[in-house]
Amino acid sequence: MTKRDFLSLRDLSLEEARHVLALAKTMKQEPRGSRLSALAGRAVAIVMEKASTRTRVSFEVGVAQLGGHPVVLTTQGSQLARGEPIADTARVLSRYCDAIVFRTFETSRLLGMAKSASVPVINALSDDGHPVQVLCDVFTIEEALGRSIEGMHVAWLGDGSSNMARSFVEAAELFGFHLRVASPEGYFPPQTERDHATKVGCASFTNNPDEALRDADVVNTDVWTSMGQESENERNKAFAGWTLNSAMMNKAKPTAIALHCLPAHRGEEIADDVIEGPASRVWDQAENRLHVQKALLLFLMGIA
Ligand code: CP
Ligand code: NVA
Repeated sequence: MTKRDFLSLRDLSLEEARHVLALAKTMKQEPRGSRLSALAGRAVAIVMEKASTRTRVSFEVGVAQLGGHPVVLTTQGSQLARGEPIADTARVLSRYCDAIVFRTFETSRLLGMAKSASVPVINALSDDGHPVQVLCDVFTIEEALGRSIEGMHVAWLGDGSSNMARSFVEAAELFGFHLRVASPEGYFPPQTERDHATKVGCASFTNNPDEALRDADVVNTDVWTSMGQESENERNKAFAGWTLNSAMMNKAKPTAIALHCLPAHRGEEIADDVIEGPASRVWDQAENRLHVQKALLLFLMGIA
């Protein structure tokens, strides 16, 4: 059987993505401990080249809840810091583990891991995408609003060039919703991705937040400075005035929900009155990482 990776949302068909989300819904309702035999005797490597709280803990706990053994490696705690090539790491981990969850920088490192590993590789965030987060966010949106995301208007406010925004563009195409990205000039996805999204009609791009927020069912934002961009000092200036606050939320539908993948910088990309307000679903959003990722692991490993 060919191994299945999940490096971007393009790695799943709509039918497969729907299968994963349905399985996650079932598993969320099950008593904890009811699937302890699912990964019994198997191990999953969780390799983190960037910091992580949610992704690390949700995968680590998720594997344990499925009866498997999670092995967490960080750069500093492994030979990666001393320059061991990704291809060698991938081959060795594949001899011990049944899947690899990998958070890294350039896409070339992610592709290198996937190419040299003989077990499924999951992108746990790279410079160019955060597909597990966005797959989980689709689950949260449907759970919160009680209907399919197909046909919804989803607004993205802030850094449209971020890994999160770029994965949301892919999700819009896969799931059939419309994403409106509102960002300052210079902070949109790369031109080829914009052109493709515009051509297929799944996303539009504007400098005017009001255009994106009008009739929005969901409003999303993310940090202005992603991991690895800390030296880009001009970012805070470029995003001045782009805070998702209650005045911004009031421009969306009255029933709109607010999402943020976390960690958040209150007072920068999101105001306290939104993240702690009635529209916020960020804590459910964080919890759902656990349920959807467990389902994704079982699917990619050919178990369910
Ligand atoms: N949202 C998310 O991926 O959080 P962490 O960076 O804490 O894993
Ligand atoms: N865009 C953020 C997401 C963090 C989960 C980053 O890459 O730092």
